[in-house]
Amino acid sequence: MITLEAMRAAWPQIGLRMLAVGHALPAAGPVPNSYLEKLVDTSDEWIVSRTGIKERYFCAEQQNVELAEAAAKEAMARAGVEAGQIGVCLVATFTPDRQSPSVACCLQQRLGLPEDAVMFDMNAACAGFLYGVQTARQILLAAPAERPYALVLGSETPSRVLDFTDRNTCVLFGDGAAAAVLELSAENPYYAVCGSRTDNEQMLFCTGLADDKPGVVHMQGQEVFRFAVDIIPHSIEQLLTKCGLQLADIDHVVCHQANNRIISHVVKKMHARPEQFFINLQHYGNTSSASIPLALNDMWEQGLLQRGQKVICVGFGAGFTWGACLLTW
Ligand SMILES: CC(C)(COP(=O)(O)OP(=O)(O)OC[C@H]1O[C@@H](n2cnc3c(N)ncnc32)[C@H](O)[C@@H]1OP(=O)(O)O)[C@@H](O)C(=O)NCCC(=O)NCCS
Repeated sequence: MITLEAMRAAWPQIGLRMLAVGHALPAAGPVPNSYLEKLVDTSDEWIVSRTGIKERYFCAEQQNVELAEAAAKEAMARAGVEAGQIGVCLVATFTPDRQSPSVACCLQQRLGLPEDAVMFDMNAACAGFLYGVQTARQILLAAPAERPYALVLGSETPSRVLDFTDRNTCVLFGDGAAAAVLELSAENPYYAVCGSRTDNEQMLFCTGLADDKPGVVHMQGQEVFRFAVDIIPHSIEQLLTKCGLQLADIDHVVCHQANNRIISHVVKKMHARPEQFFINLQHYGNTSSASIPLALNDMWEQGLLQRGQKVICVGFGAGFTWGACLLTW
């Protein structure tokens, strides 16, 4: 009989392959900073210089699950994977359409996913996609042989929980969804580190059932900034130690796309090459859990991702949650 020690020793050797990514953006089209200038006392100049964001998308009629469905269909078609082959579907989101059922369960019907597949939403805020990938890897080990694939999404509609009279928050976020199809692999090493640091629940939160006014984002920007520029290098270093690599060995670093200045700080602090760090937040703003897979999607569409390349994804969010993973593309 296999011992617990043997199981633990085998675990790091179980890699993960991302077969494909897909995405979906609200049909209403991009919303430039000039639109927000009409709602709050802000300016395009302020938003671009403090964040790098030029535009984002907001859903008009569309719901989270509709974005999720479109992103999942694109990823599955690109991967050549049928609904019946999916063993687990995880949706990372802090903005589900309803408290329940989960976006994942709603996707089951829309995509025709099997009844014995595991479906649930998870809320690890902006680090949610990374938590999702890590969790899906573990669930795949127990999936039936005919369902070897995981569908992991980050799907968000922050526009539903933004206060459009609060200039501190409403200029930062955007809606969007992205999905990845994954399978366990012996050839594609995968390492991850995840955690959370609950210094202060008031720094970044979205009100809920216990609050007078549910569904509103609040943030202390500078505190979040400080956390981000500390935790990103910390998690990348922890990850590199775990996999025995140097930053110079990594082809791409995909940070959670919250703010250009956060990424620049990290590049400087880590003495990294700026071109290692992909940035697309100028087009989408902060799409929370969707930001990392949306970045992977854009990189793939731009031909930047080649099989065999080493990609670090690193995220942080309300909680504060944090996480990083090394994918071998
Ligand atoms: C939010 C953030 C862009 C603000 O930038 P900042 O340089 O820290 O700006 P401050 O908070 O110091 O505010 C400076 C001034 O700009 C003002 N300001 C805030 N938002 C503004 C806006 N949209 N337009 C114009 N002025 C704004 C503030 O009121 C403040 O004015 P004051 O000096 O008169 O009080 C920055 O702190 C940040 O990116 N933090 C991290 C946020 C984040 O990543 N959140 C998501 C995590 S998943």
